[in-house]
Amino acid sequence: MKLAVIPGDGIGLEVLPAALSVLDALGLDIEKIPLEIGYGKWERTGSAITDEDISIIKECDCVLFGAITTPPDPNYKSVLVRLRKELDLYANIRPFAPLKKVKLPCVKKFDFVIVRENTEGMYSGIEELQQDAAYTTRVITRRGSERIAQRACILAKGRNKEITIVHKANVLKSDSFFRDICIGVAKKNGIAYREKLVDSMAYDLILSPEKYDVIVTTNLFGDILSDEAAAIAGGLGLCASANIGDRYALFEPIHGSAPDIAGAGIANPIAAILSVRMMLEWMGKVKEAGVIGMAVDNALMNGIVTPDLGGSSSTDEVSRAIKGSVKGSD
Ligand code: NAI
Ligand code: MG
Repeated sequence: MKLAVIPGDGIGLEVLPAALSVLDALGLDIEKIPLEIGYGKWERTGSAITDEDISIIKECDCVLFGAITTPPDPNYKSVLVRLRKELDLYANIRPFAPLKKVKLPCVKKFDFVIVRENTEGMYSGIEELQQDAAYTTRVITRRGSERIAQRACILAKGRNKEITIVHKANVLKSDSFFRDICIGVAKKNGIAYREKLVDSMAYDLILSPEKYDVIVTTNLFGDILSDEAAAIAGGLGLCASANIGDRYALFEPIHGSAPDIAGAGIANPIAAILSVRMMLEWMGKVKEAGVIGMAVDNALMNGIVTPDLGGSSSTDEVSRAIKGSVKGSD
């Protein structure tokens, strides 16, 4: 297994080494290929990612990604959006469930997954900036909608066999197209479906997250709802994600490079460590993934947590505790 490692910028440079140290404790045969990509590289070379970087990544099986700062350049194109397109990572999968001892702002019991279309929608990259107007083309294709709905149905089959299709079909024709395709795929798979308008979903997710299981939606709606979901689940420092395609996969914490705390050694590494857990599940290493989950639970139960969770431990102390539990489970 060949793994491209992209720490990126800001706290990406702190949480990714922490997550790798936990992965190393499992002693698996994984070859790591470190790559410098992001704002730091852009400042140094004028380019955040090169064609050569993309070729190296395409020789790997998957990517572990930290976070990237957006450079202050109006012509800058997002590295992540490019990677998702180049590797055809069409499904962005973000699970949310309460972790041990973490204080939650509202409902205490929920367990849902957001399955977000990751390559088209509002992030199609088709944009035009004019003097007095700006246009972004929202692209929803049959193929893109079918494959994301199929992913959601596969996930639902291993869970509660139900999906919620989130859209704004009352206003957007592209969304009634998306909704109808999702309904067709759900019926074909024998999966029950509900549908919900995105604004009402944003409201209900805060009040009644326990009602949902697999939520499938378009790119921008999924991006926004998943940050909302992170707040419900206790914070950005805890939430992991997988970007999956048919050939490649990329795993990353949901959070960004957090310039406000970068360099202070207090970033919560759990989101990055749980991204490693998702990567191990994707690799079929379910037992090892479970070990990481338990080690994270132990750290939380023992109160070894960073300031975002009300603790006083450093990034390093949290990752060392988790690494210790992983080693102790041999
Ligand atoms: P952010 O996620 O970096 O930070 C939001 C808030 O959450 C900050 O107060 C930060 O300190 C806190 N936070 C985030 N992760 C944390 C962690 N692991 N532990 C403790 N606290 C944590 O979002 P923001 O500030 O909007 O963006 C900062 C930069 O990151 C921007 O340049 C943005 O473009 C980029 N970004 C990159 C992403 C990526 O690479 N996937 C995703 C989101 C933003
Ligand atoms: Mg986001």
